[in-house]
Amino acid sequence: MSNIIATQKIHEQYGGVVPELASRAHIEKIVSVVDAAIKQSGYSLAELDAIAFTQAPGLIGALLVGAQYAKSLALALDKPLIAVHHMQAHVLANLLQDPAPSFPFLCLTVSGGHTQIVHCVSPTEMKIIGQTIDDAAGEAFDKTAKILGLPYPGGPLIDKYAKDGKAIYKFSEPKIDGLDFSFSGLKTSILYFLNNAGASNVYKVEYTATAEERQKFIDENLANICASVQERIISILLNKLKKAVLQTGITRVCIAGGVSANSGLRQSLKDIGEKNGWQTYIPPLEFCTDNAGMIAITAYYKYLANDFVGMDITPSANGSF
Ligand SMILES: Nc1ncnc2c1ncn2[C@@H]1O[C@H](COP(=O)(O)OP(=O)(O)OP(=O)(O)O)[C@@H](O)[C@H]1O
Ligand SMILES: [Mg+2]
Repeated sequence: MSNIIATQKIHEQYGGVVPELASRAHIEKIVSVVDAAIKQSGYSLAELDAIAFTQAPGLIGALLVGAQYAKSLALALDKPLIAVHHMQAHVLANLLQDPAPSFPFLCLTVSGGHTQIVHCVSPTEMKIIGQTIDDAAGEAFDKTAKILGLPYPGGPLIDKYAKDGKAIYKFSEPKIDGLDFSFSGLKTSILYFLNNAGASNVYKVEYTATAEERQKFIDENLANICASVQERIISILLNKLKKAVLQTGITRVCIAGGVSANSGLRQSLKDIGEKNGWQTYIPPLEFCTDNAGMIAITAYYKYLANDFVGMDITPSANGSF
């Protein structure tokens, strides 16, 4: 009924999220965000069936603010309390689209902190069948952007510049067994590629280009560098997804998380789906990055399953599902 989001611009100047600033912003914003959500929904607090909050994973200070506020509301209004896992919610954001995928389906979750292939049997039953062993796909975008001197978060900027470029530079694909991913090698090969001003993308510790040569190369080739990096990240993701479809026999495929806003990934998934006879589901942009709707839809299914928590529940920075 409503989907209000407060975004904190302050982190841009630090090149990444500063946990202490994030927690403080949550304290400052939570009352006005909840008020705005209630107003937009057209309901009153008293009419709600339950109060849901993100219990894990994430920055603990921010999670604590949400958990304490949700507990207080539930206690004051005498409503049941529902704990939601942030990464399950990213997956179930796919149920907010029309038509929504039916079960079972596979979901490629690609966000700032996670890269997972999830096998979803029902809204309350899902299993991670592949995940990154180091950096997340979003980190690969953001760290590459940082190396290129672009502001944080760099993912959307790489997407933007890639549109005017061609993937002429070939970064190697990591050889990782099974359905797991690795992105840290890619980041390193991009760094050395730039340190060599594009002369070679072979691992080389020493600089062979001067700072000026390096910058000139970036300035003159930004679109092609972005297109090349983006194409490699997409091929790493989609090759594993293809493997997961073959392994499970499930051809209903969804994407989730901030990186699923990437225009190249959206188009490539659509193309691969058409070529291989998959049914692909690509959520609207507003349900790809962090949003309130994904927490609400997950809570809805937990409510139907009577999956409530007590006042002794505590948030957790880590935690798989
Ligand atoms: N168009 C885009 N192309 C590539 N990456 C993008 C695009 N838009 C957003 N991103 C990336 O998505 C990430 C943010 O996604 P999201 O908000 O889902 O992550 P998060 O909530 O911080 O992480 P997590 O959900 O794992 O805790 C950032 O790394 C950002 O660069
Ligand atoms: Mg997220």
